[in-house]
Amino acid sequence: ARVAVVGGGQNCEHDVSLASAAAAVAALRTVGHEVVALTIDRDGEWRDAQDRPLGLAGAVQVLGTCDVVVPALHGPRGEDGTVAALCELAGLPYVGSGVGAGALAMDKWVTKLVAEAVGVATAPGVLLTAATAADHAWTHPVVVKPVAAGSSHGVSLVRTPDELAPALAAALALDDRVLVEDVVVGREVDVAVLGRPDGSRVVPPALEVVVDGLFDLGTKYDGTACFRVPAPLTDAERDALRTAAVTVYDALGCAGVARVDFFLTADGPVLNEVNTMPGFTEHSQVPRMFAAGGTSYPELLDLLVRDVLA
Ligand code: DAL
Ligand code: MG
Repeated sequence: ARVAVVGGGQNCEHDVSLASAAAAVAALRTVGHEVVALTIDRDGEWRDAQDRPLGLAGAVQVLGTCDVVVPALHGPRGEDGTVAALCELAGLPYVGSGVGAGALAMDKWVTKLVAEAVGVATAPGVLLTAATAADHAWTHPVVVKPVAAGSSHGVSLVRTPDELAPALAAALALDDRVLVEDVVVGREVDVAVLGRPDGSRVVPPALEVVVDGLFDLGTKYDGTACFRVPAPLTDAERDALRTAAVTVYDALGCAGVARVDFFLTADGPVLNEVNTMPGFTEHSQVPRMFAAGGTSYPELLDLLVRDVLA
């Protein structure tokens, strides 16, 4: 098929998204697709593979010459339903979650409310704004994060009272709403869920992130985090993770592949977050999980494209 791959994006995950898109472009070509690569600049301009600015109307025109769009975009104005909305309005088939699921999953507060409503545990937490943050008192170690950001931008572990104010300021610099959550003690385990057109849900072996301290922006991309795939799990743990991941995927209404991240605690899985367009280089978590399940990276991309066209 003729496939448009869109990378970059107007947010702090721009570079991560460029890497995902470049890897997807190369892999899709190896399985015989004709690929049109487009990039969204940090300032929102769409560019073609020759780096020529297209304007939004020009970009939609190019996308319209393709059979399917692969939005390899992470974070706000990409993964949050906005690009899905553009595709919907223009009548373009696209890979991945629709407008609603993208927007819900990008909002860590709403994701928490949805997960709790369907019986999936999350860390106890409160929502703060600039107006309420000043009155928030530190009582115990917490994680402070912007409600809508990715790759741990603006996320801090707050161990002592004096760390709270700078952490809130850092998160509020990226978002109007900030989540303050209890620190969850558990192993970090990611679960991929792929929804197929027949309604079935494919869940490859889970992945454990092994890292000393917080799996933050530094450890995410400096190569010190170690992934264990398949994660060593008991049958009961595997079942609990799978059930929780599929339940959240379906409650949010996800499509295509999503990565549902958990802390595995003594009391079972605790949801951390949902990525509707997870990191997608060949070495990212989701492709590694599918590889462990026998589906190679190009095969996974081919499957995602074919499912949309099916
Ligand atoms: N938000 C990053 C790209 C991830 O989930 O992998
Ligand atoms: Mg994320």
